[in-house]
Amino acid sequence: MEHLYQLGKACPPPAAEPERQYYFIERARKLLEEKIQEAGRPLTFCVVTFGCQMNARDSEKLRGILERIGYIKSESEEADLVIYNTCTVRENANLRVYGRLGYLHSLKKKNPHMMIGLCGCMMQEPQVVEKLRKSYRFVDLVFGTHNIYKLAELLVQAMESDAMVIDIWKDTDRIVEDLPVDRKYPFKSGVNIMFGCNNFCSYCIVPYVRGRERSRRPEEILREIRNLAEDGVKEVMLLGQNVNSYGKTLPEPMTFAELLRKTAEIPGIERIRFMTSHPKDLSPELIGAMAETPKVCPHLHLPLQSGSTRILEKMNRRYTKEQYLELTDRIRRAVPDISLTTDIIVGFPGETEEDFQETLDVVERVGFDSAFTFLYSRRTGTPAASMAEQIPEEIMKDRFDRLLDRVQAIARERCARFQGRTEEVLVENINEQDSSLVTGRMGSNLLVHFPGDASLIGSLVPVHLDECRGFYYLGTMAFTQKG
Ligand code: SAH
Ligand code: SF4
Ligand code: F3S
Repeated sequence: MEHLYQLGKACPPPAAEPERQYYFIERARKLLEEKIQEAGRPLTFCVVTFGCQMNARDSEKLRGILERIGYIKSESEEADLVIYNTCTVRENANLRVYGRLGYLHSLKKKNPHMMIGLCGCMMQEPQVVEKLRKSYRFVDLVFGTHNIYKLAELLVQAMESDAMVIDIWKDTDRIVEDLPVDRKYPFKSGVNIMFGCNNFCSYCIVPYVRGRERSRRPEEILREIRNLAEDGVKEVMLLGQNVNSYGKTLPEPMTFAELLRKTAEIPGIERIRFMTSHPKDLSPELIGAMAETPKVCPHLHLPLQSGSTRILEKMNRRYTKEQYLELTDRIRRAVPDISLTTDIIVGFPGETEEDFQETLDVVERVGFDSAFTFLYSRRTGTPAASMAEQIPEEIMKDRFDRLLDRVQAIARERCARFQGRTEEVLVENINEQDSSLVTGRMGSNLLVHFPGDASLIGSLVPVHLDECRGFYYLGTMAFTQKG
């Protein structure tokens, strides 16, 4: 879709979206042309992403808009416009951003054309914006998670003003479709199916910074996926904080299982993944859809958080240890070879050694193919932050190390089960260490390295898994791909 507008005083910006943003893309383009004249060279941008898949997808949207405006993409932060798309899920995510801002400031002192933008989850926290306003005056533009679609409009404001432009919304019920996107990979893509979260797990900041849960309409999602397929995309990852509750609030409700089946009908889409599932909402219907739809990858990321029912209750997760175990049993019966991965937090307030043993017990009994393990991080404003019995750091770290040991040993065993099999692999890139190898992913999400060249990137090829190297495989292509 092309949107072109006559610019000038006689023509005020349209009120409707996305038309309004295409108007501002044109205005930003004009302003950028002047800057390019002045600089006597093209101007570049760099978007740096912190955090989860949701943020990665948002960054692709930011890049799409900036390329349309006429900036040249760069991987280096020595660019003329640098945007940090931030995460605030744990304290250290924030600290990293403040640390790197100092470095950006030193670059800005050397480059008179440089602009700095900050957006994403961290910006939704009032105390962060206050700190930026006071101590980081060199930042040009600050926006949040709800208005990233407005980048062109905000950039025009920032280009026309010397003051810091700040635009943060508390929440939104708005979903703007049809803006440009610059995909990182031509052959695979994330697709947002819902935004926000209503679960309010007591440790988690996400519902406060991403707002209330809202689902995209299925027609819009399927239209986007059809367009992606026509553009060469073979694998989609359906994204949401809790995909299992997809569609419940739509005018015409649709379940996530139905959406999966509809996605699988789209020609050209060969693999479907999704992220993240909340155990409390994982329905038998979804397990059925996974079992019956070959395009759905045999991989489920099912965050456990804790194995202790007592702690799960304090976390407001709304399932018990037994319910989690029963659920994973049911999934394994329906999809026998499935890879199960998880997230676990250690050191939640009040966690005792016995509670921690319950977590280890679930880890042993389920046998996760991999697990992201986190030290509990106190997030201001969440209920857990003001709970008594915050756990001392040494105890937390000791539990963390013991958990990681078990998680890794089990993951190694699980990985080894594929030895000698031939599996379909989607080739993603040339191996970074050895350019005679390519690297791809199996349906289970394991990485495989095997001899091949760039012509294979983006193809699904059968690969014989010769040697398990802990958490990945070395393999050889089973036969030459035709066509
Ligand atoms: N919506 C997803 C998770 C999003 S955040 C879900 O419900 O599973 C990703 C992971 O970060 C969470 O699964 C959790 O393990 C971890 N996490 C969230 N808040 C945290 C905190 N305060 N401290 C440590 N880890 C946290
Ligand atoms: Fe956070 Fe819980 Fe929502 Fe996941 S489901 S984003 S952990 S509140
Ligand atoms: Fe971080 Fe925001 Fe994702 S807080 S984990 S980037 S939703």
